[in-house]
Amino acid sequence: MTESNWRPRVWWQSAAIYELYVQSFADSDGDGIGDLAGVRARLPYLAELGVDAIWYSPWYPSPRSDAGYDVADYRSIDPAFGTLADADALIAEGHQHGIRTIIDVVPNHCSDQHPWFAAALAAPPGSAERARFWFRPGRGEHGDRPPNDWQSIFGGPAWTRTSAADGTPGEWYLHLFAPEQPDFNWGNPEVRAEFEDILRFWFDRGVDGIRIDSAALLTKDPALPDSDPSDPSPYTDRDDVHDIYRAWRAVADEYPARVLIGEIWLPDATRFARYLRPDELHTVFNFPYLCAPWDAAGLRQVIDGTLSFHAAVGAPATWVLSNHDVDRHVSRYGRADTSFALDRRDHSQPVDLALGTRRARAAALLTMALPGSAYLYQGEELGLGEVEDLPAARRQDPIWHRTNGADPGRDGSRVPLPWSGTEPPFGFSPPGARKEPWLPQPPAWRALTVQAEAADPDSMLTLYRRALHLRRTEFPPGAPMTWLSSFSGVPVPAAVLAFTRGQLACITNLSPSPVELPAGDLILTSTPLTSTPLTSTPLDGTSPLDGTALAGGLLPSDATAWIRLAATP
Ligand code: NOJ
Repeated sequence: MTESNWRPRVWWQSAAIYELYVQSFADSDGDGIGDLAGVRARLPYLAELGVDAIWYSPWYPSPRSDAGYDVADYRSIDPAFGTLADADALIAEGHQHGIRTIIDVVPNHCSDQHPWFAAALAAPPGSAERARFWFRPGRGEHGDRPPNDWQSIFGGPAWTRTSAADGTPGEWYLHLFAPEQPDFNWGNPEVRAEFEDILRFWFDRGVDGIRIDSAALLTKDPALPDSDPSDPSPYTDRDDVHDIYRAWRAVADEYPARVLIGEIWLPDATRFARYLRPDELHTVFNFPYLCAPWDAAGLRQVIDGTLSFHAAVGAPATWVLSNHDVDRHVSRYGRADTSFALDRRDHSQPVDLALGTRRARAAALLTMALPGSAYLYQGEELGLGEVEDLPAARRQDPIWHRTNGADPGRDGSRVPLPWSGTEPPFGFSPPGARKEPWLPQPPAWRALTVQAEAADPDSMLTLYRRALHLRRTEFPPGAPMTWLSSFSGVPVPAAVLAFTRGQLACITNLSPSPVELPAGDLILTSTPLTSTPLTSTPLDGTSPLDGTALAGGLLPSDATAWIRLAATP
């Protein structure tokens, strides 16, 4: 596809972007691990689903101490996934399907198998090789205490001591994540030059965007002081991190229509917005939206807050419900506590999957109606829940291992997709595969395969397909949203989110009882209406309700409707 065939030049401002977790998407060669050939074979599925871009989880050579977020070579493809030629073909074929490619760049740290880190370990203290990382002598008479009190985000100290070949203990090195993920020293110009070159390497291959891992963590206070809760963090969201993104933006701007997307978890919206200034990143993930409980007032506050801080810096909003680091939202919304926080994953709460699924359907339509770009995490289009009962022996996540299971970690959101059939591997691997999927799939997923859902007009997959296609035509990019305070002369109840955008109204009922809908054409609904005084028969045969003209009607609890209103409210 040529550049002139693309839809709006600023495609990323309104795109539906599918997070594709490579090792769990589709396994073409039967080793139990997804791969690029598996993705290529399923590009038609993604095109039919209606996504505009794929964000690939890290696809580089990696020892997989953190599922690929420990990169050993930033300019190549993990042999378990394929080759650089496979990646080139995937990028090109994606474009033929109208699907852009976003890759994951991990700049805060690399793998301890990266040649630079191997060279650093082999070099003496004070060497240029060690200056690319954070090596320091330990504290105490024998240097046997870490250089400071920083804790790893995965649990335990953020420092590991090195030892020489003869076992003599040496300096310590910093790793904000696992010991196998040494942090780069971004004060070193070699590190900066290396990553700018890596960006060009992939942009030159046709990659359309970069998701930047742990984007707020890159720069550290060079004095490496102990943490002091009353001071700004010595390693999170430091002012000097913005210089890096200004330089990256200049690189991205050398190419047409490329996008930089920051993975940034920050509580302070004002600090957050600084990453979106016109000469920095194009967009950031909206984690406050993901973490918000299923509650109208809370969601409205996050939506309003998001729109206002993005407007202040002239950036488009983004919306996301799930990713590979969080409990899947079907499960979250089926718990008594529907909120989420990275530091309190709680798999002990009972989950009402039917309720969670119903709310997930409503949340999907709400999310897709909002202005900006929407991120989907693979499997949410099938309504997959978090797999909470994985056997300990099969778990891989360093969070689970480093907390001795106190934190269940993220494996439950990373289980390989079910494509077809009635038993594992559910078409994830080919017939006669020599290995089981790298994480076991629940037998109950037989009802949630792509094959089963594609044939079911009421499935989550059918809802996503219809919503993603309608989203393109019914919610024009850039169309603002306006909250409705009343319709049909009746004030909108507090537990109902109702707004217009483009030609449609999106109404989500989070109250325990049904709400009366205004008159208009029902375009799509997440759950059939409770009562439908129909004025005509359905416009299409695909569902008994969608596309139906209605004179009011009752939207049940935990449901969303898209309506073309008969009259201006
Ligand atoms: C954020 C990624 O999303 C997560 O999966 C990873 O473990 C950390 N960054 C460290 O790279």
